[in-house]
Amino acid sequence: MAFDRFGRNIHYLRISLTDHCNLRCIYCMPADQTFCPNHKLMQDEEILKFAQLFAKLGFDKIRLTGGEPTIRANIVDIVRGISSVPGIRSLSMTTNGVLLPKLAVPLKEAGLQRVNISIDTLEPDKFHRLTRWGKLEDVWKGILAAEEAGLTPVKLNAVIVKGYNEEDVIDLAAQTLEKPWQMRFIEMMPFAGATDLQTQQTITAAQIQNKIETEFGPLEPAGKYDGEARIYRIHGAKGELGFISSITLPFCSECTRARLTADGVLRMCLLREKEIDLLTPLRSGASEDDLRQLILDGVWEKPWGHGLDQGIIPLNRVMNQIGG
Ligand code: 5AD
Ligand code: SF4
Repeated sequence: MAFDRFGRNIHYLRISLTDHCNLRCIYCMPADQTFCPNHKLMQDEEILKFAQLFAKLGFDKIRLTGGEPTIRANIVDIVRGISSVPGIRSLSMTTNGVLLPKLAVPLKEAGLQRVNISIDTLEPDKFHRLTRWGKLEDVWKGILAAEEAGLTPVKLNAVIVKGYNEEDVIDLAAQTLEKPWQMRFIEMMPFAGATDLQTQQTITAAQIQNKIETEFGPLEPAGKYDGEARIYRIHGAKGELGFISSITLPFCSECTRARLTADGVLRMCLLREKEIDLLTPLRSGASEDDLRQLILDGVWEKPWGHGLDQGIIPLNRVMNQIGG
C-alpha cells in the first residue's frame, strides 16, 4: 500500500490518455492550445505497464481522463487491458460524451463500469459558446447511450462560470427530478492560460446551491460524500445533486488520489506544480523496483493541499494537460 507522510492511503489513480480534445471549453484550455506530439504520449503498452505497477502498490481505483479519453485510438482495447489487471476493482472515465453513442456499448463490454459526462448547459447556443464549437445534441445522445449501456449511475459534471452558465443550474438540477442521474456542480479552478477568466468569473458552490434552493426549496442532504462531492436531493427527485467546492471547501484532507499525465508524469496534486517523470525512466530501461520506488517516493511527498487561498496557482500545465 502507498501512504503519504500525512498518513493518507493513496489508492486512486487518474490516468490521462491524451491531452487532445474534440472540444475547447473556455475554462479548460486556450483556443490556440498546442498539443503533445504522439511519440511523447504514453503508448498503449506503457499505460498498461503503469496500471499494473500501481495496482501492485495497492491502487484499486482507476479513472481514465484526458483531454478527451475517447478520442484515443484503441480506447476499447486500453479499457479491456486495464480492467483485467488484478487488483483494479473500480474503472471509470470522465468524458465529454460526444463519442459515447458509438462507444458506450463496446466500452461497457470491455470492462468500463461508469462514466462522468461534462454538460454545462442545456441550451444549444450556450453550449456552443462554452465549448467553442460543440453540439449539445451529441452530448445528450451520449448521456442516453451511457445509461442504456449500463455505464451507471450516470454522473454529470457542470463547471459554473459567471456570465456564461450561472442561470443554467436550475435546468440542469431539474433533470434529476425524473432521471436517476447525479448532477454535480463544480467550482471553476484557476490554472495558467485562462487565469483571468478563472479568477474573476468564479461562482461558489454555496451560491449555486442558493440559486437551486430558491427554485426548488431546501435540498435534502443525502448524508454522504461521493468522492469530492457533497450529495443532496431535491425533495421527491429520482436523482441526486452534488457540489464540488474545491476552492471554498477543499477536500484535500480526504484526498486519496494521484494523477498520471498523458506524457507519463506523476502529479500528486491537481493544483500543485510538483511532478515526477515516470515515462522517461521506463523508456530508458528502469527496473520495476526503481519505478516502484519513484512512485512510492512521489506519493510520500504528496502536498498536504492546494495553495489557492495563498494565491498559489499552478502555472506549468492547464487542465487538459493534467487530466480532470
Ligand atoms: N475548473 C474546474 N473543472 C474543470 N474542468 C476542466 N477545467 C476545469 C476548471 N478550470 C472539468 C471539466 C470536466 C473535467 C474533465 O474537468 O468540466 O468535468
Ligand atoms: Fe475537452 Fe473536457 Fe477540456 Fe472541455 S473540459 S475542452 S471537453 S477536456
